[in-house]
Amino acid sequence: MKILVTGGLGFIGSHTVVELQNKGFEVVIIDNLSNSSINVLDGIVAISGKKPLFEKMDLRDKSAVQSFFKKHGDIEGVIHFAASKAVGESVENPLLYYENNLGVLVYILQELTKKDRARLIFSSSCTVYGQADEMPITENAPVKPAESPYGNTKQIGEEIIKDTCKVNPSLATIALRYFNPIGAHPSVEIGELPIGVPQNLVPFITQTGVGLREELSVFGDDYPTEDGTCIRDYIHVVDVAKAHVVALERLLENKNEANYEVFNLGTGKGSSVLEVIHSFEKVSGQKLNYKIANRRPGDVIQAYADTQKANEILGWKAYSSLDEAMKSAWDWEQKIRA
Ligand code: WQD
Repeated sequence: MKILVTGGLGFIGSHTVVELQNKGFEVVIIDNLSNSSINVLDGIVAISGKKPLFEKMDLRDKSAVQSFFKKHGDIEGVIHFAASKAVGESVENPLLYYENNLGVLVYILQELTKKDRARLIFSSSCTVYGQADEMPITENAPVKPAESPYGNTKQIGEEIIKDTCKVNPSLATIALRYFNPIGAHPSVEIGELPIGVPQNLVPFITQTGVGLREELSVFGDDYPTEDGTCIRDYIHVVDVAKAHVVALERLLENKNEANYEVFNLGTGKGSSVLEVIHSFEKVSGQKLNYKIANRRPGDVIQAYADTQKANEILGWKAYSSLDEAMKSAWDWEQKIRA
């Protein structure tokens, strides 16, 4: 069964391709390599023993998207990762984000709605909840006004899919709201490859640990949390990848209750920035150089998932602990800097 994975050489995409191939799916990857490397294909082959089909393509090219779907008429499902994800960059260049994250989504939906039957998994984000009023956050928590164009693209992306589903019963979709995916494949063949200075906590920690950065700034220790630092739900990327396969299977087996569904992907456990640092120190056996700095504008105080809906309806849960995820992130960082 043929599945299209857009952005399949990216961080979450590559881990998902491995899990799909392990389950016997035939994978076609589209990636424009704007934030990924062609070498990731070798890592995927090394783990799964299978080479996915790969097309280097920019999905903003509408006629290329149309030709692709004509050529691959037997695609049964699409997992759509290809998108831009840097919050700061989205503030600087909002139109790039609206074009990459929403224009492309429209093109893909236009092709999928031409088919007799189509399934789509969409990468959404816990960012849609903003600072939720209650923890843990259920899927019913209200969507709050976005803090950035990036956040807007995830909210509007969900709305675009929901509206399209209302008038296209042959289209079945699931939006997965990721909390904070971290770590790397335990084989250390694939992992995160941030370009430039990492904006996210875990790659910044591992790059500091390996000596690439001098010190980590902890953005604020005066938040109303136990140790004063922000709380997030850090989830191993392999657990996130496996959830995509389960969600896709739900749609392929027509088990979905509606043709638009939303699930949180988190562990259900919140960890503070200092707890993440201590986890790194434990698994690496070294002290991390860090200082307390000012708050980062736009950060919410805390966000962790209620995982009951995904547990019960998808029959999926996250297995890896924070320490396991940090260990894999550290092993990966050491490997790529060796
Ligand atoms: C985590 C915590 C920081 C860096 C982002 C996106 C979101 C989502 C996931 C994306 C926060 C603190 C960080 C540093 C620090 N989706 N921190 N020093 O902000 O929860 O979410 O990624 O693709 O949309 O916004 O993740 O890793 O940036 O930060 O103290 O150098 O670490 O303040 O509390 P965040 P993050």
